[in-house]
Amino acid sequence: MSTEKPGYFTEENSADVVIARNADASDKRLAEVMAVITKHLHAAVKEIEPTQEEWFEAIKFLTSVGHTCNDWRQEFILLSDSLGVSMLVDAINNRKPTGASESTVLGPFHVPDAPELPMGADICLDQKGEPMLVRGRIVGTDGQPLDGAKIDVWQANDEGFYDVQQKGLQPDFNLRGVFRTGPDGTYHFKGVKPKFYPIPDDGPVGQMLQKLGRHPYRPAHLHYILEAPGFETLITHIFDPDDPYIHSDAVFGVKESLLAKFDLISDPEQIARAGFDRPYYEVVHDFVLAPAK
Ligand code: BEZ
Ligand code: FE
Repeated sequence: MSTEKPGYFTEENSADVVIARNADASDKRLAEVMAVITKHLHAAVKEIEPTQEEWFEAIKFLTSVGHTCNDWRQEFILLSDSLGVSMLVDAINNRKPTGASESTVLGPFHVPDAPELPMGADICLDQKGEPMLVRGRIVGTDGQPLDGAKIDVWQANDEGFYDVQQKGLQPDFNLRGVFRTGPDGTYHFKGVKPKFYPIPDDGPVGQMLQKLGRHPYRPAHLHYILEAPGFETLITHIFDPDDPYIHSDAVFGVKESLLAKFDLISDPEQIARAGFDRPYYEVVHDFVLAPAK
């Protein structure tokens, strides 16, 4: 038990007094984290000098963020996403060796039990949207193809909705699937050209973005989780570089290395070879996994 008296609370020493109160913390990491947060929070309040009304507005905002959360809606994660904190935590925890593919946010629409499909399968179950073929190779940082790599993909439909956002309207597991590479490390599957879509913006985070003059859109993308024994799991996306929102993703998820061209293929021979009956978009993207630490 600490017997030292840190003094009474003043405007000048406010952070020090609060931090000193945690001197006997049994959870040292928590005390360390709270010391940093207290230091920066008090500094921010001193710089902002909020009125009592403004502070109460902030409390009401956070209360509303909490009230908007339920089993399928996590408004605090959306707040973290839209403030760039999710991407910062992702960057800190996914520093990759040179040559390895980069990560980005998981997002709220991953479903853990998507069906495992034969390589080449079409993940679009309702025939809506412009056809797309995605292909590439999964290799290690030494360039060797990865045999038996698990590829978990999911995407929004051509109207910008995931199946879980339109239960009953889209078939269950629409535009998601799990594939496994063979010895050559290649993969290919069919889907539909994705479109930009808004992050859920009918809650307090959406209102905040609007007041800040920000749009809620994410540029068109495909989500991937790549796993292979002996390698770090990679959670990432590939993005359409021609999307109107490519330079202003609402959650800051775009990285240059994750841009993948969506080429329109109109040549009848190629269309027939790919098994389509009309022009389709082709996306070629390889992934490089980092060895497990
Ligand atoms: C997504 O890409 O699925 C996503 C990511 C962050 C917030 C909302 C959606
Ligand atoms: Fe997404």
